[in-house]
Parts: sequence; structure tokens; C-alpha cells
Amino acid sequence: SGYVAYDQGYGNTGSCESEITYLDGEHGVLRHRGYPIEQLATHSDFVETAYLIIYGELPNVAKRKEFGLRLRKHAAIETQMQKILEGFPTSASPMAMLSAMVSALPAYYPDLATNDFEKDLKNFDRAAAVAISKVRSMVAMIYRYTHGLPYVFPKQDLPFCDNFLHMMFSEPYQEYERLPEVSKALNLLLLLHADHEQNCSTSTVRMVGSSAANLFASMSAGICALSGPLHGGANVAVMQMLQSIHDEGDDGTRFIAAAKSGNKSTRLMGFGHAVYRNFDPRAKIIGEACDTVLKRLGIDDPLLHIAKNLEQAALQDDYFISRKLYPNVDFYSGIIMRAIGIPMDMFTTMFAIGRSPGYIANWKEVASNPKGRIYRPRQVYVGATERNYVPIAERP
Ligand code: CMC
Repeated sequence: SGYVAYDQGYGNTGSCESEITYLDGEHGVLRHRGYPIEQLATHSDFVETAYLIIYGELPNVAKRKEFGLRLRKHAAIETQMQKILEGFPTSASPMAMLSAMVSALPAYYPDLATNDFEKDLKNFDRAAAVAISKVRSMVAMIYRYTHGLPYVFPKQDLPFCDNFLHMMFSEPYQEYERLPEVSKALNLLLLLHADHEQNCSTSTVRMVGSSAANLFASMSAGICALSGPLHGGANVAVMQMLQSIHDEGDDGTRFIAAAKSGNKSTRLMGFGHAVYRNFDPRAKIIGEACDTVLKRLGIDDPLLHIAKNLEQAALQDDYFISRKLYPNVDFYSGIIMRAIGIPMDMFTTMFAIGRSPGYIANWKEVASNPKGRIYRPRQVYVGATERNYVPIAERP
């Protein structure tokens, strides 16, 4: 009954009011709580930007310290959770493992996940710290498990990103050698993913949260949404594409020609964006950072050369120009991750660590909105009109 406005994939529908992230796709503008992404990328780090996104203001010294301490306190993963992880074959998708572990968190923290907004909001500071800190530690644990390595426990005295690198790469008999360039690159990578308006996974978090589901349940659903190749999984698809171009001895020319067929299976991965129609400001920052990081680490990656060739060729090609297709954040993020030693199968889980502040801030907006209602879009029905039931024996 009644008229339903049709907007395929909600491309032009504002599903909520939000104070977190401003995105102008026509002009390539991205701001968190009013601060341009370029300034945050230059001056801030992941933890500070996470605080900003979640709480709305940059922290003063005392608040920054308090937030850092809360993150450190919740860095370790409960021993029993190992059983959840180890129930998976080591060949399973790390994103499936991550979402399962996050969806199990309410069982370990029932006081933070009551499914009653008022109660959950009272404990929000703790829940947010548990979510960010543990998603990071879970990713390291999943890496150790899937690669047949012993788990490494977090250290109390290490900053967030260094602690991650320690849990990933230290061995019981040998500490991982800390390089400031590497932790800087990781901070930048996570910061650039910290929030991005109503993307597929964040909208999923809000949708699940709108039913009064707790933060962890909502985030777990968001992580599933992030796993798809058109969203978070694109960073893996980009690297597979670059690797296959390299293996075939192509400089990218043949690939560009195939990408123009309009066939979804031969798309130039890491190009195009549902909202940015001019350029993706994150891609600009990360593209430049790629050069600096690889130079500082003394790495000459042939895949970076291929990526640059592809970018140059596409930016001069009518097909891409007329469709306003530019490199997105995923085009270069994989090359940075590869440079700091993160294997391709873990790329999308890295995106999940980065995006966790965005999920948390968006869930909080849903939970704190006194006028909020459950998300319940309508549809335009195009199926059969009314017809009468036919007994099975009489069916053709
Ligand atoms: N390579 C070749 N052609 C493309 C590409 C591409 N990467 N992206 C879009 N097109 C074409 C598309 O076929 C269509 O052509 P036509 O008008 O002739 O039918 C035209 O460009 C418009 O594209 P669209 O379908 O309106 O774009 P969309 O808004 O539906 O999709 C997208 C956006 C990001 C899913 C898509 O550009 C894509 O698949 N890109 C590759 C995957 C990717 O890099 N995803 C990461 C997104 S950024 C990180 C994140 O948010 O997760």
C-alpha cells in the first residue's frame, strides 16, 4: 500500500543524521568531526583519531592517556577464546574467524552487551576500548594460528600499533625488531580507514544496532559486510591483480584493455568509488606514503611500478575519465601492507582494525538517538500478482 520511492542500493538516500564524518564525493573532501583527513594523516596517529571519531573532540593530554590505558588493559584475548578460533580449520577465512570471535565477545563481557541501550551506554567507554583493542589482538592471533605459529601475548608498555606488530611478528625466542618507519606506516594505514560515512559495513552496523543489538553483535555483522571483494576485500583483489599482471609479464596495458569491457569480473580493482567522483583523498595520501615507506625500508617492489603504470594509463583513458573512475584507498594500501610484512590473506582484517572506531562511533549514535527507530527499508515488489494455489498433482 502507498507509494515507495525506489533507490537501488540506497545510493541517494540519507538513512541517518550523523555528526561523525563529512564526505563530499564531487570534490574529494573527507573530514572527521570537521578535521580534514590530510591534517589528521600528517599530525595525528590511529589511536588519537579513533578517540576523535568516537568522542567528537581531539583528546587533551589526560584524556589521551586515559584512553591509551584503557586500550592496553583490554589487549589480551581470553584463553577460552582460543577454542573458538581453533574450532576453525587453519585454511578458513580470517574474516570469518574475526567476525565469529567478535560475536562471541558478549559472552565474555555480559555487562557491556545487555542489548539495552541505556545500560550499554553507561559502560560504553569500556566496551569501546574492548572492541578496538581486542579486534587488533584477535587479528594478530588469527595470523599466528592460520600460519602455524605460537601465539604472542601483548605487552603492557607498547603503543597500540607496536603492540600489534609485536603480537604478529615476535617469536618466543626472538623479539621483533621495532622500526619507527613501520609503526608510522601502520598508524597511517589504520588512520586512513578509521571511518567513511555510510559505507556498506558501517550501515550494516547501524542497521543491526537499530534493533538494540549490542555493540559487539553489530560490529560482527559489519565485519561480515566488510569481507566482500567490492568493499574491504578489494585490497586483496588489487594485490592478486597486480601479481597476475606481473606473473604474465604484462605492464598493465592488456589488463586496462580488458577492464574496459564493462565485465564485472575484469574490473580494474582499486579503481572507482560509489561516492567519490573526482578523487579519493585517502588514495592520494596513501599513494605518496607508499613511495616514502618503501624508500625508507629500502624496498623496490615491482608491483608498485605496475600500480603506477596502471594508474597513469587509466587516468589518460577515456573509458575511466568519462566514468569518473580514480584510484581508491585500496589501490595502494596492499603495497604498504606487503612492505611491512603483512601477508595478503590478512589484508581485509587490517581494514577491520582500522574501521573499528567508525563502527563504534556509528553504533553509539544509533544507541544515543532518542528519536531513533529500527531500520526497516521498504521494497518495490516486482513478483507475481495474486494467483490461486494448485494441488501438486495438477501442477505441470
Ligand atoms: N573497472 C572498470 N570499470 C568500472 C570500475 C572498475 N573498477 N568501476 C566501475 N566501472 C564502470 C562500471 O562498469 C560502469 O560502467 P557503465 O556505465 O558502462 O555500465 C561505470 O563504471 C559506473 O560504475 P558504477 O557501477 O556506477 O559504480 P558503483 O558506484 O556501482 O561501484 C565500486 C563502485 C567501488 C563497487 C566499483 O567502482 C568497483 O567495483 N571498483 C572495484 C572494486 C574496488 O576497488 N572497491 C573498493 C572500494 S573503496 C574501499 C571500500 O569502501 O571498501
